[in-house]
Amino acid sequence: MQDVVLPRFSTTRQWLAQALIGLVLSTGTALASEPAGKALSEKAGIPWPAVIAHRGASYDAPEETVPAYVLARELGADYLELDLQRSQDGVLIALHDDNLRRTTNVAEVFPARADEPVNRFTLAELKQLDAGSWFNKAHPDRARAAFKGLKILTLDEVIDIAEGGANKPGLYIETKAPGQFPGIEADLQKALAKRGWLGERPAASAGHVNVAQRPGRVVLQTFDKNSLQLLHKAMPQVPKVLLLWIGPGSIPGKSEVAFKDSGFKDRASYYAAQEVKSEADFQAWVDWARDNGALGTGPSSRLAEGGEQSYMDLVKPWMNRLTHDRGLIIHPYTVDAAADFKAISAAGVDGFFTNRPAELLRYYERPAKEDSDALLKRHGY
Ligand code: G3P
Ligand code: CA
Repeated sequence: MQDVVLPRFSTTRQWLAQALIGLVLSTGTALASEPAGKALSEKAGIPWPAVIAHRGASYDAPEETVPAYVLARELGADYLELDLQRSQDGVLIALHDDNLRRTTNVAEVFPARADEPVNRFTLAELKQLDAGSWFNKAHPDRARAAFKGLKILTLDEVIDIAEGGANKPGLYIETKAPGQFPGIEADLQKALAKRGWLGERPAASAGHVNVAQRPGRVVLQTFDKNSLQLLHKAMPQVPKVLLLWIGPGSIPGKSEVAFKDSGFKDRASYYAAQEVKSEADFQAWVDWARDNGALGTGPSSRLAEGGEQSYMDLVKPWMNRLTHDRGLIIHPYTVDAAADFKAISAAGVDGFFTNRPAELLRYYERPAKEDSDALLKRHGY
């Protein structure tokens, strides 16, 4: 055994100084072991790590419909994510695409208007559409007869679902194509205030999701800088996230070659090859977000298996360190596989947007008590 050399102190002051240094070092070590985004999330009243059900539990049910949101709530997701648009007659609705062709039967019901933007349809017209059958055709392995005839939802109807169970998830709302909807940020403020979502909410019963009772009960998100500023003006106290991308209107890339001219055979490979022009450009974007009211970023991520949701890798460790150093949290989109949860978590993020909240909850060791099939059946699907 080696001799242990004990420190020798010539004065009490020296001993105190050494003890103080030791205390600082050990505290520093303890702080360093705490993930950087955890304290930032908790300060904002946002759960860490966060499970954000992207368009609801949209792997198992048609996106942004009743079963997708009910399933996400029942599984125990922290947030129901939705894309906010507005009907021609001024009603706020939840829909991702800026036309109705992919996710409804608009081509049958309004054949001459199938490619018109959503804002040319009244709510009564939108409610005539079947927003579920497309899913059964696209995903026969996950099809259910009861998905046929599902309706496009209003924001109020999504809120009803968020409020309607024992779990009380929060709302994670994106202003989608906000340039098409002047004033939608102020409309959203009025709608949330009317439903009482800009103040405290009733707590969930013990043992259930309680995000709606926290200050981070609503998170607002957008790719659009102007919309972020308008959201901040309308709701300065509500947490906001700037979504990140490489390309026009977002972070400058090293290459300006479009996909169609790139020679890449699929978009995932093209996106994977895109890089930010410089660290300074990335930093400028994050600084702008922070200085204009964001408390977080929503970066795209590259997925191990590629696919339609595999985008640019904006969750590199240096990017996450830089973002946390500026006091912002990080919620990447849209990640569904355990291998990606693991790899991207190791790079330092604070939760995920996911179409598969059951999988993410399992990864975070908060598994749902019932599986998705049983929950959907219990709710009539
Ligand atoms: O809102 C985060 C993520 O949803 C952004 O992508 O196109 O699915 O809305 P998108
Ligand atoms: Ca979205």
